[in-house]
Amino acid sequence: MHRTFAILNQKGGVGKTTVTLGLASAAADAGRRLLVVDLDPQAASSWVLGLDPMDLDATIADALDRRSAADVIQRSAWSTNIDVLPSTPALQAFESGGSKRLRKLLKPIEHEYEAVLIDCPPSLGNLTRSALTAARHALLVVEPSSLGLRGIGGVADLIDDVWDATNADLELAGVVLNRVPAVSNEAGRRIDELARIVGRDAIWSPPIPQRVIFNEAVGQRRPLHSYGSRAYHPIAVFDSLWRRVRGVVHAAQP
Ligand SMILES: Nc1ncnc2c1ncn2[C@@H]1O[C@H](COP(=O)(O)OP(=O)(O)OP(=O)(O)O)[C@@H](O)[C@H]1O
Ligand SMILES: [Mg+2]
Repeated sequence: MHRTFAILNQKGGVGKTTVTLGLASAAADAGRRLLVVDLDPQAASSWVLGLDPMDLDATIADALDRRSAADVIQRSAWSTNIDVLPSTPALQAFESGGSKRLRKLLKPIEHEYEAVLIDCPPSLGNLTRSALTAARHALLVVEPSSLGLRGIGGVADLIDDVWDATNADLELAGVVLNRVPAVSNEAGRRIDELARIVGRDAIWSPPIPQRVIFNEAVGQRRPLHSYGSRAYHPIAVFDSLWRRVRGVVHAAQP
């Protein structure tokens, strides 16, 4: 499962979906095949990618039940290169139960994509555990504020636990910093604190700035790259992060 990333943090609203969608936008722009697995019952990434769970005959909950993703994976509205395994509020039922089903579901299809990104819910329950069991790479999204760093220990413990119990191939690919102000002593101190926990090298660069265009893109269900020069800096940031994702995939042994 060397192409699969779990994009996670137990904290809500830190930018897991923004990172997933920004990377999907960069992959689409580069003409690369990508699968977004929406593992959040809120179904935000499915919706932004043009899919409404209410209109779908089948969602990821059915795929997990049937143990097959055939007929459930949909093409996104963004690009023929971006596919989605869409979510549904019914996915909440999978917060308890076995954690290996998602891995079994993705294993036969992973090779069809350059990368598979699992957008996790804001919890450390069974859904996030399933994502970490299916993925080779854990990608944490963190806001460098005092509240943003709270709970990182719990995420690290879950990664250790999954590594021990179900997935010895799991590695921390890195930490993406979101909503980083251009100049802030406070953010700088928190990044230093984070570096002491995960190691300086684990913190990916460049950080994602705070920009209203991210909100706008979600509201209009559009990829960041469709905004051209209006989103010049955020686009450059996500192009760099996408190159990093590809680098991690290419460095990982199948
Ligand atoms: N760098 C940013 N600049 C401005 N707005 C942002 C930024 N990152 C995220 N947001 C906005 O903050 C809100 C929460 O972000 P997002 O949905 O990506 O977080 P999340 O971690 O996926 O949340 P949840 O835990 O609920 O799944 C969204 O409205 C998003 O557009
Ligand atoms: Mg989200």
